[in-house]
Amino acid sequence: MSKGLRSRLTQYGDAGFALFLRRGFLKGAGFTDDALDRPIVGVLSTASDFNPCHKTAPMLAQAVARGVRLAGGLPFVFPTISLHEAFSFPTSMLLRNLMAMDVEEMLRALPLDAVVMIGGCDKTIPAELMGAISADVPSLVLPVGAMLAGRHEGTRLGACTDCRRIWAAYRAGTLAEPDLDRAHDQLMPTSGTCMVMGTASTMACLAETMGFTLPGAASAPAVSADRVRIAEASGRQAVRMAIAGGPKPSEILTPAALRNASVVLQATCGSTNALVHLAAIAGRAGLSYDLGELDRVGRDVPVLLNLKPAGSHFMEDFHASGGLPALWRRLREHLDLSARTVNGETLGDVIARWPAYVDDDVVRPLDRPLARSEAIAILNGNLAPQGAAIKLAAATPALFRFAGPALVFESLDDLARRIDDPALPVTDKHCLVLRNAGPVGAPGMPEAGALPIPKKLGAKGVTDMVRISDARMSGTAFGTVVLHVTPEAAAGGPLALVRDGDMIRMDVGERRIELMVDAGELGRRRAQWRPPAKPARGYARLYVERVTQADKGCDFDFLAQDAR
Ligand code: FES
Repeated sequence: MSKGLRSRLTQYGDAGFALFLRRGFLKGAGFTDDALDRPIVGVLSTASDFNPCHKTAPMLAQAVARGVRLAGGLPFVFPTISLHEAFSFPTSMLLRNLMAMDVEEMLRALPLDAVVMIGGCDKTIPAELMGAISADVPSLVLPVGAMLAGRHEGTRLGACTDCRRIWAAYRAGTLAEPDLDRAHDQLMPTSGTCMVMGTASTMACLAETMGFTLPGAASAPAVSADRVRIAEASGRQAVRMAIAGGPKPSEILTPAALRNASVVLQATCGSTNALVHLAAIAGRAGLSYDLGELDRVGRDVPVLLNLKPAGSHFMEDFHASGGLPALWRRLREHLDLSARTVNGETLGDVIARWPAYVDDDVVRPLDRPLARSEAIAILNGNLAPQGAAIKLAAATPALFRFAGPALVFESLDDLARRIDDPALPVTDKHCLVLRNAGPVGAPGMPEAGALPIPKKLGAKGVTDMVRISDARMSGTAFGTVVLHVTPEAAAGGPLALVRDGDMIRMDVGERRIELMVDAGELGRRRAQWRPPAKPARGYARLYVERVTQADKGCDFDFLAQDAR
C-alpha cells in the first residue's frame, strides 16, 4: 500500500502540519488533490551537460513519467550526481561512492513509494544499485542504452575499443593526423553509452541478469523506439511496485542473483571493473561477492557473446539477436532460473516467453563458443595475497606462463614521466609494474592498469607485455594485464616491496602470481616502507581513510550492511 506524500515527513514535531505544508507547496505548483493522493514514483535522472552518454536521460524521464501516469501514479523527476568517465577528475571511481551516498540519502529523504533510476555510464548503475540496496526502496534500473556503432571508410567503429586502437596507431606513427581526425568524428556517432562490452554495457547486462531491470533493458540502443517503450513500461511497473510495496532490492539481490551475474560476466567477456562493483553491491546487502566462485564459474562457462573487444559485434547486434534472455537460454544449465526480477517474473519465466530467434554468430551456442577458455581469472600468490584479476580473453596466451624481471613505476606521474624515455632500461622480457594506483594510492583506483607499451619497444613491434598493478583497466582495453592486486601498495601490500630487477613469476593455469624474493629480504624492505601522505581535507581525505580494498568493492567501510 503506497503512502505517497504522507511518507518521510519533514520533522517539525507536528506530522499533520508537515503534510499540510508539503501539500501546500505542491498545490502552489498547480497540483490537484486527486493527483497528490496517487502513488508516487521517483524518476531519478542523471541528465547533465557534462555527461554526453546520458544525453537522452530527459527524454527517457518523460517516457517513464508517461508510464507512471498511465498506470495511475504520480511521477516526480529528481536529479542526482551524474558521472561520465571522461569528465571526472581524477577518476570517476573516486566519486562512485559519493554518488551512491547521494542516491541512498535521496531515496531515504524523498516521499516516494518506488523509484526508476536512469543510469548508464560506467559508475552510475553501480552507484544507483549500491544506494538503492542500502535504502531498500522498491527500485528499478533503466539503462540509457548503448550508442549505435560508428562507420568509417568501410569499418564499423566502437567506443572505446577503437578509440584505443586508433590512438595507439597514431602514437606509433602508422596513422596520420588527418585520418585520425576523420575517424574521431565517427567514434561516438550517437548519444548513449559505449557500444562494446565495456563497463557500461557490462553493468547494464549484470543489472538485468540480477533482476533489476525489465527484460531487454540492457541491450536496446539508446536511440531506439524499444528503449523508449522500455522506459514507459518501467514507469508502469514502478507503479505496481509502489502499490505492492515491492519487490524491494533486498528481495532481488540474493546469492543466486550474484552467482548468475558471475555466469553472465564470464559468458559476455565483461569488464573486470564488474568485480569491484559486484563486491560493493553485495556488501550493501550484507553478502560477500565470491571471487573464487567467479573463477570456478569461468572454468565451466565459455565466452558465448561475440561482441567487441573480445569479438566483432556491437550492443545493437546483441539486441537484435534477442539480448540477454537469448543468452540466458543458452546458459540455462549454468544459471539459477528461479532468481526473481523486478517484473515479478523469474529468469525462467522470461526465457519461456521470449521470442525464439537468435543470431548464432552473435550469441554463440555452447558447442561453438567465441572462446573456450574463461574470460576472467583470479590469481593468488605472495604478490597478491587477497587476489588479482586478469582478463584472459584480452591477453596473449603465450604470456600465460611468464617469468621475468620487474621494471617498477612508483606512481602514475612516474609512469607518465618515464615510459617513453629512450633511456628506459626495458626489454621485451620485462614485466611492467605500476604501484600506488589502487583505491588509497591514487586515490580512486584509476583505469591505468593497461600501461602503454614503451615507445622504444612499440617501435620494434612489441604489442603486448605482462603488466601488473593495483589499478583497474577499462573494459574496452586489452593486453596481458594483471589488475586489482590486493592489498594495494599504498595499504602496505607486497606490491610496495617490489624493486627493479626482482623476478616475477605468473602461471595462469595454476592461478599463481609470485614475487621471487625470499621472505627475509621482503621483511627488511617492509621495515623501511612508509605509507604515502594522505590528502589534507575533504572528500578525498574521507575516501582514503574509509575505502575498502578491491576485493571488498572499494566501498566505504561504514556503508556495508554489517556496518549498520
Ligand atoms: Fe560513458 Fe563509455 S564513457 S559509457
